Amino acid sequence: MIAGNWKMNTTVSEATELVKAMRAGLDQIDNVDKVICPPFISLASVGELIKGSSIKLGAQNVYFAEKGAYTGEISPLMLADQCEFVIIGHSERRQYFNETGEIVNKKIVAALKVGLKPILCIGERLEENEAGRTEEVVSEQLRSSLAEIAYLNSLVIAYEPVWAIGTGRSATGKQANEIIGLIRRNTAKLYDKEIARNMRILYGGSVTADNTAEFINQPEIDGALVGGASLKATEFLSIVRQTSEIKK
Ligand code: PGA
Repeated sequence: MIAGNWKMNTTVSEATELVKAMRAGLDQIDNVDKVICPPFISLASVGELIKGSSIKLGAQNVYFAEKGAYTGEISPLMLADQCEFVIIGHSERRQYFNETGEIVNKKIVAALKVGLKPILCIGERLEENEAGRTEEVVSEQLRSSLAEIAYLNSLVIAYEPVWAIGTGRSATGKQANEIIGLIRRNTAKLYDKEIARNMRILYGGSVTADNTAEFINQPEIDGALVGGASLKATEFLSIVRQTSEIKK
């Protein structure tokens, strides 16, 4: 799976232009799940443009309540008929909007309940990495995010070391592979081996057309969550094409 997280970029007309520029190319590739996650305000128009194609749509966030007096929030139910996926617990949400493990957990429960497929983001901060605490932090984030969730359905996990996001400083393929292997082993312990084996775990953090192969060639890595490079049609297409070639 290659998922593009457009973050807080593109007006509605820019979003529709961007999707038009990548639609035909992406649609031709059939052994990779391609997910694009535009801002909420563009979900409907982008959704219209990819109707009938193999491209899937995701949102970047969701609130956990079904409906009610939560000014400015978007509920799982509202998303469920617009898109298939939703990014939950992105480090930018944890950092700038004080999302805790408990909130992330509530959002995952609420998304799964209405059939949305969560892309759960976990990853350590720079100081945690430098203190040698990566494994501990990632394991704890996984545990708290999935607390009380009996059935994972179609959950996707993205391992995104915070120090690699938007910095141009990606992890190495080997580092990412190791932590993703750890996430898979922990998932097997929390659930079972079969679920862990089948679960897609992506790497995210400064993925570009130039370093895609380094990650996708790793045995534990099932794809990528791409930020900056997903805003350029030719680069995003190149990332998906390379993934398709490697995974053939
Ligand atoms: P980046 O973002 O590719 O721009 O580093 C990745 C992400 O935040 O999902």
